[in-house]
Amino acid sequence: MHDQAPITDRQRVAETFWDRWALAGNEGVPRTPEGDLDVRAAAEAGERDARRVLPFLHPDAVVLELGCGVGRLLRPVAGHVAEAIGVDVSTVMIEEAEQFLADSPNVRLIKGDGATLEGVESESVDLVFSLLALIHVDKRSAFRYLREIRRVLKPGGRALLQFQNLLAQRGFELFQETVETDFPFEFYTPEELRFLVRGAGLEVQVEHQNGEFLEVVALRGRPDGWLREWRQGFKVDEVRRTGLFAEGGDLDRDGKLEFSIVNSTEQWRTAELNASLHRRQGGRLHMCHFVDGVLFGAPKGASKVSVQFSGGSLKLAADGKLVSFAPRRAEPMPPTGRLELHVAVIPSGLRWNEETARLFPSCAMAWTLPAGS
Ligand SMILES: C[S@@+](CC[C@H](N)C(=O)[O-])C[C@H]1O[C@@H](n2cnc3c(N)ncnc32)[C@H](O)[C@@H]1O
Repeated sequence: MHDQAPITDRQRVAETFWDRWALAGNEGVPRTPEGDLDVRAAAEAGERDARRVLPFLHPDAVVLELGCGVGRLLRPVAGHVAEAIGVDVSTVMIEEAEQFLADSPNVRLIKGDGATLEGVESESVDLVFSLLALIHVDKRSAFRYLREIRRVLKPGGRALLQFQNLLAQRGFELFQETVETDFPFEFYTPEELRFLVRGAGLEVQVEHQNGEFLEVVALRGRPDGWLREWRQGFKVDEVRRTGLFAEGGDLDRDGKLEFSIVNSTEQWRTAELNASLHRRQGGRLHMCHFVDGVLFGAPKGASKVSVQFSGGSLKLAADGKLVSFAPRRAEPMPPTGRLELHVAVIPSGLRWNEETARLFPSCAMAWTLPAGS
């Protein structure tokens, strides 16, 4: 059911505040000396920050950004999806966004009321995302948004949401800095946020504490339902190893692991691929090289994946195209210990660790590389 309560003073204050804020010129809305939107700066910052959202997208997806501002993030996101909807409480922001996104025909902008997603059809959205916006929304309106997010998400749809963590050192500092002002900032403890997300009818699929932020991936669906579907849905087949990965030897040698991932689900269109090379020493797993990438797949389809170790780093490719975006050396490689290669196919937003590997046994694969390595 739509939330059609009368407009509160909090909603009115939010609108006035953000209209004024938009015109003042600041990091989120960079302006030229003449006072116009600095399109280049906004586009560059948007490209950078939108990387967070990319692992959740697929070409048929309908996505919604809550608190879209001038559309910094919507612009790059729109290129990867069927439809992108932006909702914001500020008229000034929405008008600027209309200009900034004039070349993105699949974007729809809605001037919202500050607490609901009026104008968005129920069960029509695959992903809601909100970065640097819900941190500014008063708690009661934020809870109404959570209920509205549940309403507009398709069953199985997800929401990537960012809040502020009262219990983080920087979070509490910010809280103290703003107690004597009217600056709209809201803070949560992790437990409280989990409670509210669940209270709105969503499941917490992933939770990260990231500096002053609390970030959750919330799912519209039953927790055991999606977990089971995910576990059973992805199968690995036709594994082939060449080079270092087949024969062992020192890590100066290149190696390649190829396999296919068969997705037998209808629901999951994107997954995160993680590959990591480890040494296991005395029970501890040292993560020495790490890379992740995004796998876009048709439902009920198969993708050919390769993990390559060359030039001292890991690369990931799917169906012949490089998909890795974060190769890095995590820890120095200890000189001895069993060498292991781990590959995981996990829901976007989840981080790989040994617990994740236990949770997703059918997709977190580990190979112990031959002796001598
Ligand atoms: C710091 S800006 C971030 C904009 C955008 N997410 C980005 O990263 O570029 C915060 C945005 O949240 C919007 N906002 C604040 N309170 C809101 C509310 N109650 N409902 C919808 N949007 C809101 C503001 O108008 C503003 O555009």
